[in-house]
Amino acid sequence: MEMNHRKHARMSPIVYFNGEFLPKEQVHVSPDDRGFLFGDGVYDVTLTYGGRLFRIADHLERMANGLRSLRIEGADVDGLEKVGEELMARNNLDCYSQALYLQVTRGAAKRTHHFPSGSVSPTVYATISPFNRKGDPENGSPIATVPDVRWARCDIKSVCLLPNCLATQRAKDLGAHEAVFVRDGAMMEGASSTFFAVFDGVVHTPPLTNYVLPGITRKVVLELCESHGIPVRIASILQSDLVGADEIFIAGTTSEVVPVTAMDGVPVSNGKPGPVARRISDLFVSCAHGE
Ligand code: PDD
Repeated sequence: MEMNHRKHARMSPIVYFNGEFLPKEQVHVSPDDRGFLFGDGVYDVTLTYGGRLFRIADHLERMANGLRSLRIEGADVDGLEKVGEELMARNNLDCYSQALYLQVTRGAAKRTHHFPSGSVSPTVYATISPFNRKGDPENGSPIATVPDVRWARCDIKSVCLLPNCLATQRAKDLGAHEAVFVRDGAMMEGASSTFFAVFDGVVHTPPLTNYVLPGITRKVVLELCESHGIPVRIASILQSDLVGADEIFIAGTTSEVVPVTAMDGVPVSNGKPGPVARRISDLFVSCAHGE
């Protein structure tokens, strides 16, 4: 009995779904859920390092902003911090870094393109799982550029990720770690990361517009640059100017800080991680680990 119980616990992670903690297989999402039908919802991902949720307030603030933009009401976003802690405790995963996934959709309602009339309870879902890093912070990773065919509200972390999935698959097909969107000749962001380039020792990254997600890792990287005297320039980066870049790197929750070794098959500088990206990667790791 005891054995069975443990085996069951190992096989079926405990997740959070609409106010309850339960084995994942017991979650039933309505086929009328607007997340399923329309991608009508937002999500966020944050990491835990040694049991501490990293920059959770920033992630929850971004989620609350997204919900406000979509006029989705009734989700206790602040309460998701406690949910994350409870998921950690209940799953008791044997790994230092874990990924907390949070998703809120508008909920189940009769299918209409406009928002449902009357009040609808949002669907709230959260999981915790071992963190599998994308990309290689030590040795760097190649990236590929793709045309930015996404909508004009990329600042909302919406679950409508089909363009990001297509772009990432294209990068994978080309042997690259990440796809970076290019719009009107300018670098926007990765399919799941923020884009940075280094020119003459100055870290450049695009400004926050409706075409770019306000990345939390971006925010941390800029804070680290500021506190360690690394100069920064927030400005549009033209793809054509990147031939003169000393370094390129990307940063995001699920990759942390990854130096880029090649873009579209062309080596960046000498094809090895550069000193600025390496330094920022080290600073980020120390910061995330609370040192
Ligand atoms: N994605 N840009 C896009 C389009 C993203 O999807 C992400 C993160 C980022 C980086 O944001 P942050 O530093 O807050 O993780 C930038 C998450 C990790 C994902 O889709 O899994």
